[in-house]
Amino acid sequence: MTPDLSTDLGFLKLRNPILAASGTFGYGLEFTQFMSLAAVGGIVVKGLYYGPREGNPPPRLVETAGGLINAIGLQGVGVEAFAADVLPKLRAAEATVIANVCGADDDEYVRVIEFLDRQEGLAAYELNISCPNVRRNGLCPALRPETTRDLVARCKAASRRPIIAKLSPNVTDIAEIAAAAEAGGADAVSLINTLLSLAIDARTRRPRLANVLGGLSGPAVKPIALRMVYQAAAAVRIPVIGLGGITSGEDAAEFLIAGARAVEVGTANFVDPTATVRIARELSEFCAREGIARSADLVGTLGKGGHGTLAR
Ligand SMILES: Cc1cc2nc3c(=O)[nH]c(=O)nc-3n(C[C@H](O)[C@H](O)[C@H](O)COP(=O)(O)O)c2cc1C
Repeated sequence: MTPDLSTDLGFLKLRNPILAASGTFGYGLEFTQFMSLAAVGGIVVKGLYYGPREGNPPPRLVETAGGLINAIGLQGVGVEAFAADVLPKLRAAEATVIANVCGADDDEYVRVIEFLDRQEGLAAYELNISCPNVRRNGLCPALRPETTRDLVARCKAASRRPIIAKLSPNVTDIAEIAAAAEAGGADAVSLINTLLSLAIDARTRRPRLANVLGGLSGPAVKPIALRMVYQAAAAVRIPVIGLGGITSGEDAAEFLIAGARAVEVGTANFVDPTATVRIARELSEFCAREGIARSADLVGTLGKGGHGTLAR
């Protein structure tokens, strides 16, 4: 029997729980030579400001043990070019598309949403309130509960579409921030964005990134991401979308068990451009092997600590 991977976020039904994460999958079109965009649950496109942006100066990417530090700084084409040149092609590819919304200030988030609300072919907005690379020292709205709640509330009031608040791991109490996003009216939260990091070249005694600080992603962050998804899922009623270091179907299953209803795959796309479809297939194979009829049955099933038998 083939396991059922269909996923219901309440505001959105997905073919399977695997989404491509923002900033690691371009605008989706770059990947159509490798895979069908309709084969995954959905794609979250690169962060969109209102206008085009160059991002930070190079070097902006450095590899570390088990991970990647980036300081891209949200380079992008802006909403007008996205709507004119990209969105019609994504619609033709029958992709479920989530726009990752950015803003230099609160007003810009609202302007981006108001513009995108006039376009067809988007399933939801993911608010990028958690990028560590655009304001000095990694500052972003998701670092504080009040700024999280207020910005989510403004965006929700302006939007005809569901709002997913993307949270930062660079906080002490993720449960408090997730609850603030829910209080602001978020339809879901996604986490984690990257961890504020520093890479140093000891010989030159210089930072490896021109921006000095960057955001760590990839397998190195997975245990932290799992912990935060687990804590956030315990703190809110809205769906949690988990991400951070997922490279296999079993990784995806771990996030579902921790309480995520869906997951996003980021850095793994740079290693294997078909990572999202492969991970969906591996999740199906995992469920079949374990006798799990529906992947949704895994959600929030973490048992007690220690070794031992299956927690059922
Ligand atoms: C090169 C790069 C660019 C990114 N750009 C964005 C972005 O535009 N918007 C966003 O919300 N997150 C962005 N992220 C964060 C990822 O979506 C994701 O939250 C993070 O990398 C953790 O997942 P991973 O370990 O699977 O990559 C970016 C990450 C990387 C590595």
